[in-house]
Amino acid sequence: MAMRETGVGTKASGEVCRVCAGRTYVVERQGDQALARVCGCSENCPVCGGRGHVLVEREATFSQKVGPRRYEVMEPCGCTLRRRRVALYNEVRLPGVVAHASFDNYRAFNEAQDRGRGVAMHFGHQFVKGATSKGFILSGPVGTGKTHLLAATLGHLVIEMGVRARYVEISLLYATIRRGFQEGKSGGEIIGPLSEVEVLAIDELGKGRGSPFEMETLDELIARRYNAGRTTLFATNYSLEPERKARPGGPTGYRTTEDAKAVVKDAELLRERVGERIYSRLCEMCTFVELPKDTPDRRRTRQEMDSLHPPPTGMRSMGR
Ligand SMILES: Nc1ncnc2c1ncn2[C@@H]1O[C@H](COP(=O)(O)OP(=O)(O)O)[C@@H](O)[C@H]1O
Ligand SMILES: [Mg+2]
Ligand SMILES: [Zn+2]
Ligand SMILES: [Zn+2]
Repeated sequence: MAMRETGVGTKASGEVCRVCAGRTYVVERQGDQALARVCGCSENCPVCGGRGHVLVEREATFSQKVGPRRYEVMEPCGCTLRRRRVALYNEVRLPGVVAHASFDNYRAFNEAQDRGRGVAMHFGHQFVKGATSKGFILSGPVGTGKTHLLAATLGHLVIEMGVRARYVEISLLYATIRRGFQEGKSGGEIIGPLSEVEVLAIDELGKGRGSPFEMETLDELIARRYNAGRTTLFATNYSLEPERKARPGGPTGYRTTEDAKAVVKDAELLRERVGERIYSRLCEMCTFVELPKDTPDRRRTRQEMDSLHPPPTGMRSMGR
C-alpha cells in the first residue's frame, strides 16, 4: 500500500502491527459513522521525528556558468499525507455498517456480484484525478453488498489517491435540503458542495416519495455533476432492465406483450422511479450492474450461508 514506509505499520521487532495489519490507519464504526484514524503504531513518525515535513535534496542548473547545483526543499512527510487522507476519509461520511468494507472481503455468490466487484475495482484503479471517468450503478435486492462496494470504492479513492469524495443516502439528502429551505437557503446553495466534490456516491436511488421537490433536487444535482464532467456512483434497490428479467414466452423465445407487461408490473423499475430524464443521464454516466432477485441477503443469512452454502471455490479465490 502506498502509505506504508519503513518504521511504521510495524513494531520495533519488525513484526507487522496486528491492529492495522500494516496499513498504518484503521477504519472503525463509531455510532452510525465509519471513521478513520492513524494507527497507534504510526503516530510517532521515525522519518521526520514528528515535524511533518522532510528536507529533500534536488539538483538543478540555474546558470550554464555555474552548472548543476544541489539544493534542499521542504516536502510533506508520509505521515502528513497519512493524516490528511485519514481526515479526507472522515469527510466522506460513510455509514458505520460498512466501516470494514473492502474489495477483498466482498464475497461474490453469483456472477453478477463478481462482475459488480470487478466493475467497482476497475473504476477505482483506473481513476485519474481531474479527468472525467464513467461511474457505475449497482442495482439489486437488500443486503447484497451494494453499499459495501460503494464504501470500498470511495475508501480506495480517498486513502490511496487523496481524492475528495462524498457519500450520501438519498433520503438524508432530501431531509437536509428540506431543512435548508426552511432556513431560507436555495436548493442550489445546499447541493453546491455535493455537486462539486470530485466523486459522489448516491445510495438508495429511487427511494422517497417522488415528490416534484425531490425530483427537481435530484435532477439539478445530477445535471450539475454531468455538465461539469464529474463522476457519480449509485446504488439502488430498483430494477434497471425489465427485458433481462423476462422469461421467453414460448419455444421460439418470443415474448408477448402480456408477458412484458407482467414483468414490468412485478419488477419496480428505476426508470419509473426517477423519470426518463434522469434515467437517460444515468445511462450516459454509468456502467450498469444488476444483481438478480435471488442474490442472497447477507444481513439475514450470514451464518446459515457461511456454513451451508460456501461459495464455489473459484468464486471464493477471486477476491483474494
Ligand atoms: N457480498 C458481500 N460480501 C461481504 N459482505 C457483504 C456482502 N453483502 C453484504 N455484506 C455485508 O452485509 C452488510 C449489509 O450490506 P450492504 O452493503 O449494506 O447491503 P445493500 O447495500 O446491498 O443493502 C454490510 O455489513 C456488508 O459489509
Ligand atoms: Mg445499501
Ligand atoms: Zn498499526
Ligand atoms: Zn513524518
